[in-house]
Amino acid sequence: MSKLIINKNIQKSKINRNIYGHFSEHLGRCIYGGLYLDGRLNMPVVEALRKIKIPVLRWPGGCFADEYHWRDGVGAKESRKKMINTHWGGVTEDNSFGTHEFMDLCGKLGCEPYVNGNLGSGTVREMSEWVEYMTLDGLSPMSQLREENGRREPWRLKYFGVGNENWGCGGNMRAEYYADEYRRYQTYLRSYGENRLYKIACGPNSDDYRWTEILMSRAGKYMDALSLHYYTIPGSWDSKGSATRFTEAEYFETLKKALRMNELIENHARIMDHYDPEYRVDLIVDEWGTWYDVEPGTNPGFLYQQNTMRDALAAACTLNIFNRHSRRVAMANLAQTVNVLQAVILTEGDKLVLTPTYHVFDLYKAHHDATLIESYIETELIGGDKRVPDLHVSASIDENGTAHITIANLSPAESREIDCSVGYAPKSVTARVLSGAPDAYNDFNAPDTVAIKAFTGISSTTDGFRLTLPACCVMEIAVV
Ligand code: AHR
Repeated sequence: MSKLIINKNIQKSKINRNIYGHFSEHLGRCIYGGLYLDGRLNMPVVEALRKIKIPVLRWPGGCFADEYHWRDGVGAKESRKKMINTHWGGVTEDNSFGTHEFMDLCGKLGCEPYVNGNLGSGTVREMSEWVEYMTLDGLSPMSQLREENGRREPWRLKYFGVGNENWGCGGNMRAEYYADEYRRYQTYLRSYGENRLYKIACGPNSDDYRWTEILMSRAGKYMDALSLHYYTIPGSWDSKGSATRFTEAEYFETLKKALRMNELIENHARIMDHYDPEYRVDLIVDEWGTWYDVEPGTNPGFLYQQNTMRDALAAACTLNIFNRHSRRVAMANLAQTVNVLQAVILTEGDKLVLTPTYHVFDLYKAHHDATLIESYIETELIGGDKRVPDLHVSASIDENGTAHITIANLSPAESREIDCSVGYAPKSVTARVLSGAPDAYNDFNAPDTVAIKAFTGISSTTDGFRLTLPACCVMEIAVV
């Protein structure tokens, strides 16, 4: 029996709902064939994303962002310039999905747009004019162009990224060089009228602490946030491993690597604390997720992979980690929304499948904008030399005083008894659970193999409740 202690009275940071954000790139079938189908928004996908209350969507990349020239994607579709998407599969990009289509998508999703600008191969003027095009109310060359293209009103745009992975695909820059470039580009990104721009600097690649040090010391005062990218790759870069066929050792290796997010955030946040003790600059993890070899027979440049209960557990632990660091972490964006990497939705034509990771985002909805509360769980280390904890938890309290506990049982085959103390006899305890074999997944023939179910086996105690977590599961428990 493991002891779980929840203390509603120890209230910590607000969990920004943007921690539950997503990322969409012009890559494979994320935009074309995913979010955008046959020249229009894919409404069943939009509806599914609305159900998990998608709060923010990042676009157009990724590596694609630093090759994207926004003017190619506005105006009459027949005259939009075609280009080759050199990063992702060498396919023709016809630019039929551009700024207007993205803003329309965000409007339909009811989410905040997060636009990533091109610093690697674009000019200061180009980036500055994009912000003017999207947000300036009044007369200017860019607002006139916007009106000619069918949109008189400016859009509201808060989140703007100044380059992507500029240490790699965004220009192979040194931190010192990028810090100076960041300072220059961001100077010309204006907040017009009521629109307040929130500027996001390219941050480190996983454990590149020197990058964070240089950026914070040289450019920290010019940014609202620094972004971190970290992917969970069970194998090596050249042989990442299969998404659906894996050994128990690979299962634990994947979870161990996903849990590394905690150490990365702690170490980067420590550097940020030094330069920004007031917590003015946020850390945002705008690319995270599992990355495996592509599904056999698919274009290697499209990064299409299946998604199992292993991914659900990796997502659950990562989201618990973000919740627990919500004082510094203000946004995170899972890579990538549809058909790419750890997607929440897979599509084939007009058919769609919700992945186990989708269901985790559903289970975690109650954490959006709630307040993190103290939680403690007794764990034991499992997985042999991988040494991962068997249980992983976070908890929050919503505005009605209901506590929401999200807990994962990482043991692939053993259930776990939990004795939870909340410090009073609860009026009600309800729970929903997602469980299955580590390699269980949903596909077009069997879309509901892994699905959320109501959980009924809860018994009350004088100061909380007891229950048995099934093996390999993610559970959401609501306590009044
Ligand atoms: O998400 C796929 C790619 O991973 C992105 O384009 C890039 O930013 C990262 O390396």
